[in-house]
Amino acid sequence: MFDAAHESTLVGHEVGPYKLFLETIDEERGAMISGHYVWPGAKVLAEYLLSLPLPLPPTLNVVELGAGCGLTSLVLYKMFVEASSTSTSTSTSVLNLSMTDYDPGVLQKAQKNYDLNKTHHCSSLVTNISCDLLEWGVDFNFSESFPKLSTPTSSPTLNLVIGSDVIYSVEVVEPLMKTISLLLTNLERSTHQTQTQTQSQNTTRMIMSQSFAYDSAIENMLNDCCVKFDLFRSIISDTFVKGSTNNENNHKIQMFTVVPKINSIWEHFKSTPDKEMKYKVVEIARCSETQERKIVYKALYGERGVWVRDLSMWLEKVVVDGVEKNRFNLIELPPS
Ligand SMILES: C[S@@+](CC[C@H](N)C(=O)[O-])C[C@H]1O[C@@H](n2cnc3c(N)ncnc32)[C@H](O)[C@@H]1O
Repeated sequence: MFDAAHESTLVGHEVGPYKLFLETIDEERGAMISGHYVWPGAKVLAEYLLSLPLPLPPTLNVVELGAGCGLTSLVLYKMFVEASSTSTSTSTSVLNLSMTDYDPGVLQKAQKNYDLNKTHHCSSLVTNISCDLLEWGVDFNFSESFPKLSTPTSSPTLNLVIGSDVIYSVEVVEPLMKTISLLLTNLERSTHQTQTQTQSQNTTRMIMSQSFAYDSAIENMLNDCCVKFDLFRSIISDTFVKGSTNNENNHKIQMFTVVPKINSIWEHFKSTPDKEMKYKVVEIARCSETQERKIVYKALYGERGVWVRDLSMWLEKVVVDGVEKNRFNLIELPPS
């Protein structure tokens, strides 16, 4: 935890086109959990987010877990301010960004770093930036803890949970995954309350970066927790060399989404107004041979057949005429 006796230094960080100055504690990197300095995973994640082909949506909701000095959140903040200042749209854009951590001293640093880097922006942009206490694994009331994030909006919204170098031991995996699941479920639900069908495009996800390799205990625990907390994990990139002890400058980026809820309604990308191809999720099953998760679903049109397919395939993207689309889009969530 934070020790106020440590002296801080102001360090410049260049990420893409942005230069940020962050106050950090200049101490030996001994403590794996310390958020007083910027970990390599923070830059990896920020660079990955910068590389995404984002037209940023009118509303961006972000929660950073174990935010430490806040580098990734602050890069996202800069990206959003720049995107809205160059946008030709006349409507107001909103950025709700919460940097969370369980260490109050770290949160003070994150707040200071936001104050050091905040910029003036146009009047059609509203930013709600906060530094909030959140300990992984501990239950919380979403609307009380994150009032801005739970305020319904009808404008297209992207919900992002982010975290860099947050898995440093096998013990943190379960509480962390529980918190990720709670956040994604609540964010998805609050967005879907008000979005029209065409706006709701599976836009709630967690992106996590890691600059040190996981051992097999962590890998297994991650996969077990995905099943336990209804999460689906996909690896975006992994540059670690199996069996190598020299992992410097390597990283892993992974994404977590919530598994489709039973009784939720989804639409296939080939659906047309003449032939609406909607399906209801019946069950999430597991293959007895491979343990792989499968989705059982029922057509709400035609012969109303019941089908099964790999969960990974259900959640994947397809490229149609050069445009990437979700294979299935969430249309309606069941009542909570
Ligand atoms: C290795 S540091 C990474 C900090 C930052 N994400 C970065 O990449 O620079 C881990 C961060 O997670 C926070 N943390 C560790 N355990 C936590 C827990 N159980 N609940 C919430 N935050 C935690 C620490 O305070 C620290 O800021």
